[in-house]
Parts: sequence; structure tokens; C-alpha cells
Amino acid sequence: MTERELVNLYISFFEGKGHKRIAGASVIPENDSTILFTPAGMQPLVPYLLGEKHPQGSRLVNVQKCIRTGDIEEVGDDTHLTFFRMLGNWSLGSYFKREAILWSFEFLTGKEWLGFDPEKISVTVFAGEDDIPADAEARSIWLEAGIPEERIHSFGMKDNWWGPTGATGPCGPDTEMFFDTGKEPCGDSCKPGCSCGKYFEVWNDVFMEYRKTETGVYEPLAQKNVDTGMGVERTVAMLGGYGTVYDIGVLKSLIDKIRTLSKADGTTKSERVIADHIRSATHILGDDQGVVPSNVDQGYVLRRLIRLAIRHGMKLEIPGGFLTQLAVMVIEAEGEDYPELLRNRAVILSELEREEKLFGETLQAGLKQFNKMLPNLLKNPSRTVAGRLAFKLYDTYGFPVELTADLAAENGMSVDMDGYNKAFEKHRQLSKQGAEKKFKGGLADNSEMVTKLHTATHLLHAALRKVLGETVQQKGSNITAERLRFDFLYGEKMTDEQKLEVEALVNDAINAEVPVVMKEMSPDEAEATGALGFFKDKYGDIVKVYSIGSYSTEICGGPHVNNTSELGRFRLVSEKSSSRGVRRIKAVLE
Ligand code: SER
Repeated sequence: MTERELVNLYISFFEGKGHKRIAGASVIPENDSTILFTPAGMQPLVPYLLGEKHPQGSRLVNVQKCIRTGDIEEVGDDTHLTFFRMLGNWSLGSYFKREAILWSFEFLTGKEWLGFDPEKISVTVFAGEDDIPADAEARSIWLEAGIPEERIHSFGMKDNWWGPTGATGPCGPDTEMFFDTGKEPCGDSCKPGCSCGKYFEVWNDVFMEYRKTETGVYEPLAQKNVDTGMGVERTVAMLGGYGTVYDIGVLKSLIDKIRTLSKADGTTKSERVIADHIRSATHILGDDQGVVPSNVDQGYVLRRLIRLAIRHGMKLEIPGGFLTQLAVMVIEAEGEDYPELLRNRAVILSELEREEKLFGETLQAGLKQFNKMLPNLLKNPSRTVAGRLAFKLYDTYGFPVELTADLAAENGMSVDMDGYNKAFEKHRQLSKQGAEKKFKGGLADNSEMVTKLHTATHLLHAALRKVLGETVQQKGSNITAERLRFDFLYGEKMTDEQKLEVEALVNDAINAEVPVVMKEMSPDEAEATGALGFFKDKYGDIVKVYSIGSYSTEICGGPHVNNTSELGRFRLVSEKSSSRGVRRIKAVLE
């Protein structure tokens, strides 16, 4: 079965159970500053899991592109990927545990569906922890489905709890389904969840019945939801009897190509890292909300992925310029399912080229610095390069420690790796503390302030188009409880007069105490009303259109305030370039 066949089968199964297909969202989260990338299908649905009405109803199904860089070190084994796709079916207060579990079982084992042998399926359920009881209901539904006691395992929060994705938000116990590959158990404690490869995780049904609050308490949600996730690449690999995700689809083609380009005896790890990272980088650059490489946030992660791919390319002695060749393969293989890749092809390729060039310059600068240090290093009788010097080369010049080690070896020396690791750890702890501080300061959830800033964003968007012209288009939006951030297409710096004018227009709308009105309609009707909406691929049959008097009409999922009078006073804090051709505004409500 191909990836596309699995996606279609899954969607048609759930459409048969009354679900509406919705489009996947961007890999860059909108209106949530606590995470950098969309890590799971549920993330873009958070407002609806918390009770906001979804225009397509309460039973939804989709496939979502996800980025997870948390376990980037694991990439290179058989199953971990930084970019993957996740299938999901959603109940927004419609069905709950019973239907979710029985349908999962039907889809996994039904002859016309995936047709797994039910004897090979094991499941895990929540054992209870932190005053939250064990999930006896999920257990008894599995028994009813025919899974015997000995194949139902119970674990605590570490294994059988999902969410929230940010600091606060919807979460709950889950039940995970595993396929026994038939391998010998690795020991007495080998159970589903063990990483030895005997048990392959296929699906996760989450029962989102709690919300984690700002104080860390799990509060029951009025609306009981289901969030499920099935990894497309993993499942297809398992169905086809392949031991690894790198034997299917575009990943396989990339590995084959890398082997033909490589002049060295390749290590599997390097080949896989290159294939995975270039695919992730292509999807991050090719997203309509896309970012370009930089030294902060998403741009930094992107830069890291690209540079790691280049370094592994060097290890395999692949000639320069290979990134764009591989990216073209991803665009061609996945562009039909993700047309944004085709639309953004030129940006993807030019940014990769640019980054490769920049990294080349970084390496030159590091080399120069090393050569400067060399006479002194050679005087050291221990013939070792101190860890802190190797770290300095990395931290200041971006020069990777493996290259320092190579250069040292060429000159009959070695690098004090313990010292390097210590310096690195110390630095990492400091930046983690910094990140935690930032995290605490910018909690974003569905709170009142975020909603207000969201409405203000619509007014700002409309005001910008009035003052700067209709070429202005939203590129991205990110809201915390403190401020809004809005990225838009515009080639020049705004003048002080233009900024004042925009601020005044937004405050006029606030002072006019205009009601905010929501209507549901088809995307065509929405277009006919002149509603702004730049993310066409994302819309389904029915969209919500939010109008703020004559000030703004925009397609949007909400939520918004009821009246602009709730907003207070709008102030533009900064306006600068965010990337080429894109300006970034930060603004607050006071
Ligand atoms: N959110 C859950 C997961 O990612 C189920 O979709 O596993």
C-alpha cells in the first residue's frame, strides 16, 4: 500500500462514520507562541477541542504534516523522522471512548481495511496517576472488542497521557495500539512501548477530557473529545513488511539518489539524516507560512537541519550543490499532495543554495581561525586542543567540533572532548534557562487576552491594506497573552506617518464600538462578500466569516470578542523586516 492509498482508505473509512474531511494546517502554528512547529494533528484544532464551534461540524478527519525535532538525535534509526504525516479522526464532543476504540479496531483488522491479524495486536491504557483514575472504561471496551487481558497493558502518565502541546490546553489519557512484529522479546520486561523493535506502535487514541490550567491543575472539560493519531510513513512501512520508513516513498528515492552521489562508503545514519532533514527543510521552506533560515526560533531549527544535512553530505563526500537536487525530488514527489511546495519552489531552491554558500563561508572562517591558533596549539606538549577552544570555534564561528577534531588529527593532535562536552552542556543549560523564562512570560492559550489580540489582528490587517495598498497580505500571525505579532507581504519599511495612520484606523474601529459578527457560508460566497482569506487550500465546504462593521471582513476560525469596545487601546510597538519582502509588526492592547 502506498502512502496516498493509506490516506485515502483512512479518510473514506471515517467519512463512512459521518466524519467531514478537513484540510491539514501549516507546519508553523498560528496564534500559539509556545511551540515552534505543529507537532501533531491536534495542535491546529486546540480552540475547537476547548469548545469553539468548528464550521465543518463535530466529527472531522484529516492528514496533518508534522515537524518534531525533539528527538532529532534519534533520526537515523528505523522509525524516527523530523517530518512526517499523521492521520487523525476527531470528535469534538460527539462520540467518545466506545466508538473511538471500536472503530480503531475495525479499521485495523477489517478485511476491507488494513486487515491486521487481531492476534498480533496489543494495546496499552492509562493506569491512573496524579488523582486521575485508571481508564477502566477503555480497558473494558478492548475486552469487548476481543483483546484478551494479557494483551492489555497499563501505564502511567509518561506513556499513556497526551498533551497539552504547549504549557496549557486540552489533554487526557490515551490508549495506544501496537503490532507484534514476531521478533523475540528482548527480555522479561519487553512489553508494548519497548524500543527493541518487537512492538510497532500504529495508532494512538487520546480521550481529551481535561484541560491543564496555568496553575498546572487538570480541570475536566465540559466537552469530551477524541483525538487520534496514526503515522503515515510508519504504518505504510509496517504494512509492506519493511523494517524501516526509509524503504518507502520519497525517502527511499532520496536514499537511492544519495548513494549514487556519494563517493565514500556511506554510513546508513548519514544517508538517512540527509534524506530526512532535506525533506523537513523543503516542507518548512515550502509552507505558505514558511520561514527562511535565521538565528532565532523556527529559522534556527531550519538552519540546523540544513547544516546537519550538509555536514553529513561532506562525510559521504557528496559534491556541493546536492541539497537543491534532493529538494527538487521532494517537490516533485509530494507537490501533488502539497501544492504549496510547487508554489514556493523558487524560494525553497534559492534559500537552500544561499544557506549552503553561507555555511561554506562559516567553515572557511573557522578554518582560518584554527590556522591562526595552530602555532600556539603546537607548543602545547600534551598535543591536545582544549575543550573550551573547540567550543569557542563552534560557538563563535559555527565550526563543528568534528571538523576541529579532523584538523587537530591532521596536525598530530586530539581534542579534549570531555572538556568540549562540559562547555557545551554549560552553555545549553544557560540557554534552556533563558528559554524557560521566555516560555513563562508568553503563555498563549484561549484566554481572554489572546482573543482580544486576535480581533485586533483583523483590524490591523484591514488598516494595513487601507494605508499601504491591497498588495498587503498576511503571511503569519502569532499571539501571546502580551502582544500580537503579524507578518505581511510588503517590500518597504513603513514611514512614521503610515504607522500613526494604521494605529489611528484600528483605534477608530475600537472607539466606534462595532459588534463582531460571525456567519457561516461556502468559500465562494465568502469570496463574493469580499472576505479576506489567503489560505485557500485550507478551507472546507463551509467557512466562518468574521465581519467587524465596514472595517474588516475575513475568513477565520475564531474565536473573537463580541464587540470592539472590549479591546482597549491599540499601540504599535515595532515594525521591521522579518525576511525578504515580509514585514513584521508587534503591537499591544493597553
Ligand atoms: N495527539 C496524539 C499523538 O500525537 C494523537 O493524535 O499521538
